[in-house]
Amino acid sequence: MKTEFLRASSESIKLACDLLRHGEVVAVPTETVYGLAGDAKNSEAISKIFKAKGRPNDNPLIVHIGNMDMLEDVVRFIPEDAKKLADAFWPGPLTIIMPKGEKICKETCAGLDSVGVRMPKNEIARAIINESGIAFAAPSANLSGKPSPTNATDVFEDMNGKIPLVIDGGECEAGVESTVVSVLGKTPIILRPGVVTAVDMEKVLGKHVEISKAITEGISDESKVLSPGMKYKHYSPEAEVVILKGTIENFSKYVSENKKENTYVLCFDGEEKFFDVPAINYGKSNDPKSQAHELFSSLRKLDKLGAKLVYARCPETDGVALAVYNRLIRSAGFRIIEV
Ligand code: TXA
Ligand code: MG
Repeated sequence: MKTEFLRASSESIKLACDLLRHGEVVAVPTETVYGLAGDAKNSEAISKIFKAKGRPNDNPLIVHIGNMDMLEDVVRFIPEDAKKLADAFWPGPLTIIMPKGEKICKETCAGLDSVGVRMPKNEIARAIINESGIAFAAPSANLSGKPSPTNATDVFEDMNGKIPLVIDGGECEAGVESTVVSVLGKTPIILRPGVVTAVDMEKVLGKHVEISKAITEGISDESKVLSPGMKYKHYSPEAEVVILKGTIENFSKYVSENKKENTYVLCFDGEEKFFDVPAINYGKSNDPKSQAHELFSSLRKLDKLGAKLVYARCPETDGVALAVYNRLIRSAGFRIIEV
């Protein structure tokens, strides 16, 4: 299949809408990462998404809506907490797990009776939804297991030949995927951290928001059931990634003593001078939003450089930094060494 690569414009948006109506899959920008979009009510379109990504079919997709009328159409009912969260954070990078509506096909939700929904803030994504009238399901537009793409060139690298169209809308603002929160129980629980934090949501809901243990500790049987996506290896570049936790002096000494062929460091901006191996940076040490913005593209850069072993600086674990930490420990397969 030939894959067209088009700048976002009224023509390319129209083409994307036509393709969606015909059950095809298109890659579109969002404010988090690029998504691989297909009609959430059309099981053939959904199976094309799973095939293009090589995604295990027990991992549910997120349904993207363009306005609040569409929400009624994709869920069975809207829980009180969901109303408040949608009101405060939509359009934006928050996915809310709600009871699944009948029209969404079972493949979209991998057979679950719940559905993850979000209204993206990105204007191109919203224009495609509203002009086509189609609520699209969209996972991140990477091959399954690879770091999510934050620009259209990275999407093209993974999807060339597999889908008919990639829409280039420039770099994604956030750089990490949306926060996923379930409001199915009494206490809302975050299943995947993002730039909307537990504290942000607590302010709106006036009650405690739990953070799933799986986010920092890996997978228990309980969390497997709650969020199927978290049991898979994720965000991993070709290289072996090891996180070193400690001062920059100890980090640098450890790297010197333990470097091998094609060893790189993944560090914060301005720290490159401390190492005797090449370094790629991923944002400012005191600015988790800048780390979120850079992390995936830096992991992809390391692949292009042929890195075999990567020692990574450890982010904080609170607020927005938790999203960065969560992606990085997964790309490191939970290998953290205290230095
Ligand atoms: O920012 C984002 O959310 C991006 C852009 C494209 O919108 N999409 C994205 O999709 O990250 P994906 O498929 O890579 O991640 C979806 C996550 C998975 O961890 C999945 O298990 C979880 O959401 N999820 C989806 N539906 C769910 C459900 N009904 N119950 C629990 N978890 C669900
Ligand atoms: Mg993904």
